Amino acid sequence: QAQSILKDFEEKCGTPISKLKQVADAMTVEMHAGLASEGGSKLKMIISYVDNLPTGDEKGLFYALDLGGTNFRVLRVHLGGKEHRVVKQEFEEVSIPPHLMTGSSDALFDYIAEALAKFVATESEGLHFSPDRQRELGFTFSFPVRQTSISSGTLIKWTKGFLIEDAVGQDVVGELTKAMERIGLDMRVTALVNDTIGTLAGGRYNNPDVVAAVILGTGTNAAYVERAHAIPKWHGLLPKSGDMVINMEWGNFRSSHLPISEYDQALDTESLNPGEQIFEKLISGMYLGEVVRRVLYKMADEAAFFGDTIPEKLKIPFILRTPHMSAMHQDTTPDLKIVATKLKDILEISNTSLKMRKVIVELCDIVATRGARLSAAGIAGILKKIGRDTLKDGEKQKSVVSLDGGLYEHYTKFRTCMENTLTELLGEEVSENIIIEHSNDGSGIGAALLAASHSQYIGIDE
Ligand code: BG6
Ligand code: GLC
Repeated sequence: QAQSILKDFEEKCGTPISKLKQVADAMTVEMHAGLASEGGSKLKMIISYVDNLPTGDEKGLFYALDLGGTNFRVLRVHLGGKEHRVVKQEFEEVSIPPHLMTGSSDALFDYIAEALAKFVATESEGLHFSPDRQRELGFTFSFPVRQTSISSGTLIKWTKGFLIEDAVGQDVVGELTKAMERIGLDMRVTALVNDTIGTLAGGRYNNPDVVAAVILGTGTNAAYVERAHAIPKWHGLLPKSGDMVINMEWGNFRSSHLPISEYDQALDTESLNPGEQIFEKLISGMYLGEVVRRVLYKMADEAAFFGDTIPEKLKIPFILRTPHMSAMHQDTTPDLKIVATKLKDILEISNTSLKMRKVIVELCDIVATRGARLSAAGIAGILKKIGRDTLKDGEKQKSVVSLDGGLYEHYTKFRTCMENTLTELLGEEVSENIIIEHSNDGSGIGAALLAASHSQYIGIDE
């Protein structure tokens, strides 16, 4: 009977190429709608105010804060201009205590400002280039923000397990600046960016062919370079470059073509953000393990998969994290020893048969495959929107997509499946010109680069 629960689930999760093409097309359609008007689509298609990507000329010492992934990071980046590039990069990683993720805005920003102050306090004497210069900071804030300029923006909503009511609608740079003032830290945020924008900027710094960036991590999202005149809702001046980077917030994408099962529906209903981030809940690292747990729970409950009683631990939401799932899924030992160990360590389930362990591996495969194939469809949708999904007169124009995030980095089967699916969707010939590049921690450097290109001292001296 557990087998039939699994088969049922597998059917609901099906992503044949015909369906993925519909998803990709729907993504393109929603992109147009989101660019046409504010609120025109589930895709917010946020104007980032980044109309110039890094050139390599950026110089000086800049800081970056990176909030919104698994860890919170503080970075110091020494940029040496064309010749020397990134001379030095130092960073510290701090985890955000869970209670701060659902507390008050002041508590969260005080914590961040403190970490930043500590980081600054430990730097060696004389590191700061000039005593009469304010330290400048690029702030990567990986949540949906309505940008009001390159260095300001109001929080639209929280995602990924954060829920701090009093911060919604606030200018996040204002909140951070107030917290820095409270502890006497003199720093100025010169760029506020989403992690996708940071990754795009960091990617472009290393490779001029980068056209888009995708995060596959705790959450998922994408950004890409749009022609400013193709953004009807943009009423500002046309930038000199003619370009504007768009933060799609694709995690909130939704389409009738998405394969959604009863488990996904229940996960959504019981989540901190019901009805929101539906694409993200099918794809990203925060949720994959939880979907697996929910199916296992049903097997335990209705098919006595683990014996007469339901294992207590299996009742706890989010106990099975995606890294555990990934380890089980990629277990290559002949008797699936890793699966057994994970079940024992995390769910306190022992004495599983090899047959049961195989069912679990299969379950992980279904969930990961669906997520990976859907993310490939999303990328195909972007490439279609910017006309890079076909070959133009045999022209060999390279398009590079910068990827980052824990899911992409550590879950090999997910990554491989995503890449293969993209080739399947675009065809071999087109795929030869589409390059997926890992932009390792690009978003930190990207934020520092954007902080540099928007420095208050630009043009004053070099
Ligand atoms: C990091 C980026 O590498 O990936 C972050 O620098 C980003 O900005 C993160 O938020 C996403 O990954 P995860 O897996 O930590 O959510
Ligand atoms: C969530 C956030 C988005 C971010 C993504 C990846 O979807 O809303 O802003 O880019 O996670 O971190």
